[in-house]
Amino acid sequence: MTSKVSIIGAGMTGSTTAHWLAELEIADLVLVDVVEGMPQGKALDLYEALPIVGKDVAVVGTNGYEETANSDVVVVTAGLARKPGMSREDLLTTNARIVGAATTESLHYSPDAVFIILTNPLDTMAYMAMKIGSLPPHRVIGQAGVLDSARMRAFVAMELGVSVENINCYVLGGHGDSMVPLTRHSNVAGVPLNETMPKDRLDAIVERTRKGGAEIINLLKTGSAYYAPAAAITQMVEAILKDKHLIVPAASYMQGEYGLKDIFFGVPVQLGRQGVEKIIEYDLNNNEQAALEASAQEVRESTAMLHKLITIPQKTHRETK
Ligand code: APR
Repeated sequence: MTSKVSIIGAGMTGSTTAHWLAELEIADLVLVDVVEGMPQGKALDLYEALPIVGKDVAVVGTNGYEETANSDVVVVTAGLARKPGMSREDLLTTNARIVGAATTESLHYSPDAVFIILTNPLDTMAYMAMKIGSLPPHRVIGQAGVLDSARMRAFVAMELGVSVENINCYVLGGHGDSMVPLTRHSNVAGVPLNETMPKDRLDAIVERTRKGGAEIINLLKTGSAYYAPAAAITQMVEAILKDKHLIVPAASYMQGEYGLKDIFFGVPVQLGRQGVEKIIEYDLNNNEQAALEASAQEVRESTAMLHKLITIPQKTHRETK
């Protein structure tokens, strides 16, 4: 394989991402985790499946970073879920430290890698990765929009009994209850979504999309969603490695787009070999712009909290390859 992808955090989402990626046979894979033996065991188990499915990729599990050297893409899923008694600040501080260390260590061995961040709160964690790694904004992307849009597409498919492939939905904004499902830009085989069902059904789908993560957590009782998040990461990795120029909703660093600055925020981005090639700016009406602004305010507060809790070194951007 000429490409290499390292996944930091070999938990449910990390290992499921490795599974989807191995099936695509597009890159050698490295799984990194702090738990001794676990990434090694999962990597070996996955590699032992490959003769059956007929895919030739290397899969390595490790507790260190040496094996990640020369990765093209680094996916960060390492982190803790919020536990009882843990405040939002505690979670933010803990995960920021984990994502910060994962970024610094990975960059040491793969100075040209593109980073995809999944650890929550992901808009703030992507910001942390960019800042601590002194990375140019196009090399850090947060995954949320592909997942949130896929959930909406799934709900529309259930409602209409139409193939999921015919359904295009775009969910922008931060990855929280204030996310913004753009019904006006969504369609079913070209037909505007709001013409395909009564308003109350569409409103219910928008609401279910916003609460999609919580719905899975409530059903699972322990842990959170991992199949759909892992599939979302896989699509983004494939778009980067194949230089597809694929437009997907994802968290990107805002530098004036949509009137927003200095936060990571879910917007349509074009992905290629260098990461984010372009941010697409939709023509939004007043209501849509106001919804985005409300969502941006939540992300701003979380980013401000990060600055309060952790000192992030401010350096100039690294050179891009
Ligand atoms: N370095 C490497 N791995 C780490 C570190 C670290 N410093 N700290 C924790 N981990 C690992 C854990 O050992 C665990 O295996 O990260 C993994 C996280 O996996 P899970 O707990 O199974 O969580 P998962 O469901 O995969 O979600 C990961 O994605 O959606 C977000 O909110 C979610 O932040 C969470 C992340």
